[in-house]
Amino acid sequence: MQMAKGRRQTKIYEDLARHFPLWREACLAEKGRDLKETEFIKQVFQAVPGTLRPVRSVVDLGGGVGTHSRGLVEAGYDVTLFDQSRPAITIAKQNIPRLATVHGTFETIYLDMGFDAAICMWSTPAYVHSEAGRRHFYRWMREHAQGVIILDQANFHTYPGAFHKIYEAENDEYSIRVTRDWIFGADNCKRTEFVYELLDKRTGKTETIEDQETQQYLTVRQLRHYLGREWSLAHLVGDYDLAERYERDSSSRLITIFTK
Ligand SMILES: C[S@@+](CC[C@H](N)C(=O)[O-])C[C@H]1O[C@@H](n2cnc3c(N)ncnc32)[C@H](O)[C@@H]1O
Repeated sequence: MQMAKGRRQTKIYEDLARHFPLWREACLAEKGRDLKETEFIKQVFQAVPGTLRPVRSVVDLGGGVGTHSRGLVEAGYDVTLFDQSRPAITIAKQNIPRLATVHGTFETIYLDMGFDAAICMWSTPAYVHSEAGRRHFYRWMREHAQGVIILDQANFHTYPGAFHKIYEAENDEYSIRVTRDWIFGADNCKRTEFVYELLDKRTGKTETIEDQETQQYLTVRQLRHYLGREWSLAHLVGDYDLAERYERDSSSRLITIFTK
């Protein structure tokens, strides 16, 4: 499978995927956020009014190493993880034997199955950069999700034009220092440069790695447009809690929950 044309790989999702959980924890400056987010997803599946059928099957779009899939499988959901990263899929499969996995890109997704729910977490909707890719991806979701779609983005409306921060985290084997610099444009496109200093505690060696990514965030209006009239915005929340109303100027997340 080729990467989308002209796109550079983001190493932390690909060759460095084994360090993804540590990197995620560093970037969020919070331990256990994956568990909180998974509880939220389950809360949505159980509580969203307008969902006509109970959720049993879920597709985790851009599910990576299985951040949310693991807890959903443990809770008894029948989960399929879709991702363009083979290393991430291999890790997810090793850690979660009952997980179904499919390799592919959003821009070309062709998966001939229906799911009660589709989730796309941690700003992963923002990785589709082309208009044609978005039309294809959202058409697929529209047609193959049957009850609920959760699209989780950062509340990019609060983003400054430029940002610099250093994050650190460690586990038993490694410690990581992440230097993150991004610029955010009027087109809601964020371009990020990273430097990782990864210390292997066993050998005492530190590796310095440069990485990058581009994210194209989407407004609620754009999401409604791509999903079409059959899907309604049941909830717009500002954090991983259905009771947390979205506030454009202060919320940390912009989480849209569509139902049909
Ligand atoms: C920010 S990570 C999020 C992973 C996981 N959802 C989480 O919350 O921890 C983005 C994931 O999306 C995948 N991804 C990025 N662009 C993609 C694309 N165009 N098609 C399919 N997967 C993509 C990456 O490989 C990566 O695993």
